[in-house]
Formats: sequence, structure tokens, C-alpha cells
Amino acid sequence: MDWIVDAPEKKVVVMTGAGISAESGIQTFRGANGLWENHRIEEVASPIAFRRDPVMVWNFYLQRRKQALSCKPNPGHLAVAELEKWITAAGGDFLLVTQNVDGLHTRAGSKHVIEMHGSLMMTRCIACGQVFPDERTEMALPPRHNCTEKGLLRPHIVWFGESLFPGDMERIESAIEKCDIFIVIGTSGVVYPAAGLVNFANSLGKRTVCVNKEAPANVELFDIFIQGEAGKELPKRLFPRENKGGNGK
Ligand code: OAD
Repeated sequence: MDWIVDAPEKKVVVMTGAGISAESGIQTFRGANGLWENHRIEEVASPIAFRRDPVMVWNFYLQRRKQALSCKPNPGHLAVAELEKWITAAGGDFLLVTQNVDGLHTRAGSKHVIEMHGSLMMTRCIACGQVFPDERTEMALPPRHNCTEKGLLRPHIVWFGESLFPGDMERIESAIEKCDIFIVIGTSGVVYPAAGLVNFANSLGKRTVCVNKEAPANVELFDIFIQGEAGKELPKRLFPRENKGGNGK
């Protein structure tokens, strides 16, 4: 197969994980030098951790925000954004579901995106629940919101032990129900519910494709596994370009 997305397939759902941002210089979570090798998840990425030590957790995410802002989208992110343009221009439906919180997909030009694990560029008040864009990088202490309760602000991230944001799972499942193809890129396939979406797509008879540097834990669930780096594989293989000499071939 030359292309992942073929001409008749106009309804596409893509799901990405940390692997797609690796070539931008953002650490993945698992494996050698992964973020979770140097941090205990329950000490930085859980509601209990934030209650116990809000300053430490706030600073952990502040450092990650600074890092993400200093990185640029790579050819993998750009190819996904280009695929969306192509599908949209052809009158199809496209949804990008990302587990990443680094904002690189939107900076690459992706429009229809669900950030299912939240965003480093958003903050939420623990008292009133208001969510707002926040790219500030110089606040060593978690600030208080100016609502009547003066609630502490926290990263708008889905931590371990928390549910996805209301409505996200319904929107994701509804897009998969309607899609022709479900493409999963750069994720180890161990964190649920994201890792289980391929089962859902399979149960509906959808075509499922995985692009990953190493075989993920759930590799046998995909119709097709393409082993390689997203930034190299996607520009060549995600969809056919009109201009044979141009970008990505
Ligand atoms: P992981 O770090 O678990 O997995 C990254 C995957 O990307 C691995 O399977 C790598 O082989 C692959 N990979 C690395 N470089 C790649 C490249 N250049 N091209 C393609 N693939 C590459 O990251 P996730 O699966 O995204 O959750 O982790 C899922 C969730 O676990 C994260 O969203 C985060 C974490 O705990 C929260 O923080 C809620």
C-alpha cells in the first residue's frame, strides 16, 4: 500500500501520542529518558499530588509549558494538518484526537482537534471551574482566580485518576462511528481510554492503521502497522500529493 489515506476515504479520524512530538524535541513518557523515568507519576500528575504540593506540581507543568513553547511543529504535525485541509477541501470529515498537551498540532495548522488529556496552554480554577488560555511562563506560585471563591488555579490537564472532560469521549466515539479509517500515530497503547479506541473502531469494522517507531502494546489490533518515525513516514505516506515533485515525496 502506497498511501495510508486513499482517495475514496473522506472520513478520517487520527489519534496521536507523544511520539509525534518527539522529533520536535519533546520528551515522550515511557522508555529510556522518558518523562516518567525521572518523575513518579503520582507525585506530579494526580489530584492528590496537587493537593499535597501545589507549588511543585504547578512548576512541573510550568517547565513543560516553557519547553513546549520553545519547540516547533515538525513535518509529522504539518502532514496531519495538511491531511485535514485535503479532506476538508474534498468535502469530507476530519477529526484529530491528541493525547498531547503541547499545542503543537494547532500551531501546525490543525483545526478540528480534541486535546483529550488537556493542554499546557490552559489553566482552570479549582473552585469555579472556569478554563482559560494561559501561556504565561513566569509564575512560580499557582495564582488565585479572581472569582468570588478566589480558587487556586491548576493546569488544565487530565491527571491520573481523573475522567476525560465532559463530552469529549462522546464526540470521539461519534467521529469513529462515522469514519472510514482510524489512524493512530506515536503512542505506546497502554493508557486508557485512548488505547481502547482501536477496539471500538475494530468492533465497527473500520480500517485501522498504526504508525509508530516501535510496535505498541496493542499492535496486533491494527489492520496495518507501519514502523517508522512520524516526521519521516507521514509526509511521504499519509495521503497522495498532486505535485509529485513537491513536499514530502
Ligand atoms: P508514550 O511515551 O507512552 O509512547 C510514545 C510512543 O511513541 C512509543 O511507542 C514510541 O515508540 C513512539 N515514538 C517515539 N518517537 C517516535 C517518532 N518519532 N515517531 C513515531 N513514534 C514514535 O506516550 P503516549 O502513548 O502518548 O498522559 O502516552 C500516553 C499518555 O501517558 C500521555 O498522554 C500522558 C502519559 O502519562 C497524561 O499525562 C494524562
